Amino acid sequence: MSGTFTKSMARNIFYGGSMFFVLLFLALTFDTMKVLPQRDNRANLTQAVINGKKIWETRNCIGCHTLLGEGAYFAPELGNVYTRRGPDFIKAWIMGQPTGTPGRRQMPQFNLTPQELDDLVAFLKYSSEINSAKWPPNIEG
Ligand code: HEC
Repeated sequence: MSGTFTKSMARNIFYGGSMFFVLLFLALTFDTMKVLPQRDNRANLTQAVINGKKIWETRNCIGCHTLLGEGAYFAPELGNVYTRRGPDFIKAWIMGQPTGTPGRRQMPQFNLTPQELDDLVAFLKYSSEINSAKWPPNIEG
């Protein structure tokens, strides 16, 4: 080795490296697009789930909570609340707000109808069944 680093060597490293990572990027993108439809639980997307998501959005639950790790860190993760608490607890909890417990963060009263509560629970059940590769790692977010 003479120790000379020529322009053409630099060029080959640049093009070779760029090509390698472009191909890696394409392979990973392709893999993600292939795997996602099997994980997003689309088959269980009922009208109740869709209505529930609308309530979730219009009441801005995400302004305090996270869902599958995304959202605000004021209140617990809700992507897994269906499996952690079950449907009856969730409905009773939402109806019983605010708790007024001193020293605890408070959640507002949304005055939801029984139908709206059912839809919301359907949405939370649907979310709990999405294969998120165990994300978020902390069970209550
Ligand atoms: C202003 C903030 C805020 C908003 C908006 C909010 N929450 Fe909450 N929520 C909280 C807080 C704070 C707690 C935890 C209170 C506690 O532990 O005492 C909580 C707890 C919960 C729990 C119980 C979680 C558990 O792990 O036991 C559920 C279920 C829940 N919220 C659902 C909802 C839904 C559904 C919405 C939207 C319709 C919503 N929340 C909107 C603040 C909020």
